[in-house]
Amino acid sequence: MKNLSFLFTLLLSGISFAQSYNTMWIPDTLSGPNFTLNIRDTFAQIVPTGNQTITGGVNGKFWGPTLLMNKGDIVHMTVNNHLNDSTTLHWHGMHLPAVMDGGPHQIIPPGTTWQPYWEVKNQASTLWYHPHMHEMSQEQVTKGIGGFIIVRDAEEAALNLPRKYGVDDIPVMITDRDINAQHQFAIVPYGDSILANMTLRAQYNVPAQVVRFRLLNGAIETSYNLGFSDNRSFYVIGTDGGLLDAPVLVNGTTPRYILSAGERIEILVDLSGQAGSTVFLKAFNQSLANFIPGSESFPNGPFASFLGHTNYNILKLNIGNQTANPVSSIPTALVSNQFPLEQDAALTRTITISDSTGVTSVPILGPNAFILGHQLFNMNVINHSIPLDQTEVWELKSTSGFGHPFHIHDVEFKILTINGVAPSAQQAGWKDVILVERMKTVRFIAKFSDYADATHPFMYHCHIALHEDEGMMGQFVVTQPVGINEISLSSDFTIFPNPTREKIFVQLGDVPSEIYYATVTNASGKIVMMLPKPELSSGIDVSHLKKGTYFLELMEQKTKAKTTKKFIIE
Ligand code: C2O
Ligand code: CU
Ligand code: CU
Repeated sequence: MKNLSFLFTLLLSGISFAQSYNTMWIPDTLSGPNFTLNIRDTFAQIVPTGNQTITGGVNGKFWGPTLLMNKGDIVHMTVNNHLNDSTTLHWHGMHLPAVMDGGPHQIIPPGTTWQPYWEVKNQASTLWYHPHMHEMSQEQVTKGIGGFIIVRDAEEAALNLPRKYGVDDIPVMITDRDINAQHQFAIVPYGDSILANMTLRAQYNVPAQVVRFRLLNGAIETSYNLGFSDNRSFYVIGTDGGLLDAPVLVNGTTPRYILSAGERIEILVDLSGQAGSTVFLKAFNQSLANFIPGSESFPNGPFASFLGHTNYNILKLNIGNQTANPVSSIPTALVSNQFPLEQDAALTRTITISDSTGVTSVPILGPNAFILGHQLFNMNVINHSIPLDQTEVWELKSTSGFGHPFHIHDVEFKILTINGVAPSAQQAGWKDVILVERMKTVRFIAKFSDYADATHPFMYHCHIALHEDEGMMGQFVVTQPVGINEISLSSDFTIFPNPTREKIFVQLGDVPSEIYYATVTNASGKIVMMLPKPELSSGIDVSHLKKGTYFLELMEQKTKAKTTKKFIIE
């Protein structure tokens, strides 16, 4: 439908909205430690007039609330899947147990509630959440399901940084969509329309002082070569996993930062003394090197985009008056990061990135998919097993003809070298996504601490949702050596009160057992609640379930043996 969308783009840019901008939507915030997230299919007025767009959202019409968490909090999530399809919700960048991670193995069937929880161990950072259902990530992310997570901690709080959400501390999720003549999103890798927080032709009022932007590339495929219309300089203060040691000035004749799918940066822009003027945040993708996603200009076909190999505005900033107590200076130092040291690495693990051309074992898409480790993703194959607490160097070795943003779950890493050269200062912080350009080799170091689980793996993959869906993904488990004298524990239990109305409690049998997973199934066999590592002492809240007969299944931690008991809600 490229022709139609082309006509429509002409209409949009040429006639109806030539002079008009739309105020950028700012997601609501939710403060923890308990978060309830309702994922649903819905619709929204994405194009300001005419048809609404079928979208997906969390608690709203698209995207989702910004979750505010503090380091050290134990956060409890209640995720209700109201979609007609199964989904997952992944906490991108969060260091947590694999069974809570929301990757492709933590599937939430339609109508089911998933209740993961964890202690926030990440430092202050800008993370995000999004669906990760295998072979459906592109579709579900295209609908708009996702949201920001802002982690705060004492070190960040002690700094003189802008921190007024939506005023001088502004989250901007940048993405693009192909919007057809009926105003519907096409599920394609590259869009023709740029959106800032799901707002077309976005503008925002900002105060004439130091303003912090938390920029997230939420695109399916495109990398954005970010800069400002007047080529002003800016400071990078944070990368994917937290603040840098010190702000890094990006200056020169064309100050730019390439942000690839899944990546975040926090920047400071000094707007002091500029009240009354405007400036645009732009993507300068005309100067992106060839084979970086978003650099291509295909006139037609599945990768055609009117944004390919061109420059375009993302967000118009209208600079207005200062707020009370403005931040007026850029800090000289931020935090002192302790990165793992190369001398502590137990090994170097090589992950190849290649085109699958010529690999006959690729079953789904034929020869054009991209692959990691010379194999297509298989849900049932664990590609790597990593002993708990091991420090490793990962060497990402690309022989692919195209650039791929590589992402790993569980850890934040530090880039050691890109083609043998140390990373630039603005990439020398904690990262969880790195664009591996064609034929290049990236080495990073990470420590796999805290969470071992032989059953649920963590993922690594290309963050281009299309490539991930096509199988450009692998998985690893973090393992803890088990003593030989472990006995099989009994997970026999009784439920009380039974019947119940609100909550059920579980009395475990004589031998103390640790429960790995609990599920509640209704009388027709449908899973209605999923509770990884349930905290049974506080009971299981079943008050949202209809009256009837249910089954509680407990899976024991060590043996993974399952026991099921019936209970009644009256
Ligand atoms: Cu943002 Cu595995 O993903
Ligand atoms: Cu992730
Ligand atoms: Cu890729």
